Amino acid sequence: MNDKKRVYIFDTTLRDGEQSPGASMNTEEKIKIAAQLQRLGVDIIEAGFAAASPGDFDAIRRICEVVDKSTVCSLARAIDRDIIQAGESLAEAKHKRIHTFIATSPIHMEHKLKMSPDEVIRRAVAAVKLAKSFTDDVEFSCEDAGRSEMPFLKEILDAVIEAGATTLNIPDTVGYRLPQEMGEMIRELHAHVGERAIISVHCHNDLGLAVANSLFSVLNGARQVECTINGLGERAGNAALEEVVMAMKTRSDVFKGYDTGINTKEIYPSSRLVAAITGIEPQPNKAIVGKNAFAHESGIHQDGVLKCQETYEIMRAEDIGLETNRLVLGKHSGRHAFKERLEELGFDLSPEDIEKAFERFKVLADKKKEIFDDDIRMLIANEITNIPQAYELVGLQIADCSSGVPSAAVTIRHDGEEITDAGTGDGTIDAIFKTIDRISGHQGLLKDYRVEAVSQGKDALAKVVVNVKFDNNANAVIGHGLSIDTMLASAKAYIGALNSYLSMLPSNCQIDDCEGV
Ligand code: KIV
Ligand code: ZN
Repeated sequence: MNDKKRVYIFDTTLRDGEQSPGASMNTEEKIKIAAQLQRLGVDIIEAGFAAASPGDFDAIRRICEVVDKSTVCSLARAIDRDIIQAGESLAEAKHKRIHTFIATSPIHMEHKLKMSPDEVIRRAVAAVKLAKSFTDDVEFSCEDAGRSEMPFLKEILDAVIEAGATTLNIPDTVGYRLPQEMGEMIRELHAHVGERAIISVHCHNDLGLAVANSLFSVLNGARQVECTINGLGERAGNAALEEVVMAMKTRSDVFKGYDTGINTKEIYPSSRLVAAITGIEPQPNKAIVGKNAFAHESGIHQDGVLKCQETYEIMRAEDIGLETNRLVLGKHSGRHAFKERLEELGFDLSPEDIEKAFERFKVLADKKKEIFDDDIRMLIANEITNIPQAYELVGLQIADCSSGVPSAAVTIRHDGEEITDAGTGDGTIDAIFKTIDRISGHQGLLKDYRVEAVSQGKDALAKVVVNVKFDNNANAVIGHGLSIDTMLASAKAYIGALNSYLSMLPSNCQIDDCEGV
């Protein structure tokens, strides 16, 4: 492979992706995703924004303990405190990068930063120099580069290269550029920078062009693409990793000689894990990983595919690790077969977690005849957690709905004691959640409630995802519940959210201020 055509994949699911409304994740969940990203072959994992909160700092620190092949990166504004926190959070990383940024567009400099262009350059240079004292691998981003002026971009890039930046990121922060314009901008910057640093792009999807803009950038000299699993990210999201990678692979005639280090067979498992943890499902017709991406509905298409797969398929489902959701195990399967299947699915669990998962699997297999890969994935992603279970659901009874007022009796274990209470609500779910609030003494405000079937069949598992703000806290937390019974899944999800909230206290604070950056 010609190294000049190696395209580095920088995944920001855990940072920009987490900025998607409702996608906040707890530390354990971030660790699971980071481990999967490493399996996927991502070059750089942006694990968070260390200065944003003690929770973010801790998550980065913990991710450094489990990731040894990929580079772990923390974002930092171009201010000392952020860079010091980023450096400290990465102290134990085998390979580390600090990613610092400041806005460079006239509109951001004048209205947001209230700084002159010269001041912005001074800040950028100081930030890169400070970052260099923690690691050689320093990335600098010109925020809102898509609306910045070319002479100023060249000037600031020269200055940060001189200060030691090794990767220069050109974000289309507001998703404004068209592919051809993006390509031209990258071509000019690449010609200016030459071999002095790697040019990276970070494209947002406000006009649905993030992937196209990233691909045009690669063809014009970018050697790093910043992207997220399922295209998660601020507002309309970032370029979807799976789309960028599969476009380059499928159209290798155009991307001749270009390569990423991605093991495409891990794309589908990564997408499922991120969807299970964030509760944000890709739209069914989403390219590569949507439910319908490889489904053929029309008779003509089905006939064509049966005669010759390539008539209507430009990629093979197997290439992204999508095996036709095969039936795996049943209630008579033993521990050994279960453990083997976990390994085949790419899970690397501790003996205790395998035991926990096996117990859950047995309970499930007792109720559900057929268990599919997606059931197992969901069970591991949502039910095997190292978060302290301050509250545990012991029992749930629902009153006959036809009798009038919806009511629920809930039994919860807390501090070794079982507490039962009953209450009413506007509906059964409301009754369950209000009763849990009363027992725990924490008031939850339900921001979002979603239910869907995992895999197939009338006895499909119900997966419930809730988004709840407890005790008027500014941040909502996510909870997941899995069960054949939707009410039970709802109660589990709500208690999961409560446990997640309690595990994050008192670190659940927000970035304090913008300090003009
Ligand atoms: O969109 C953006 O500009 C960013 C930067 C922090 C890289 O996310
Ligand atoms: Zn961004």
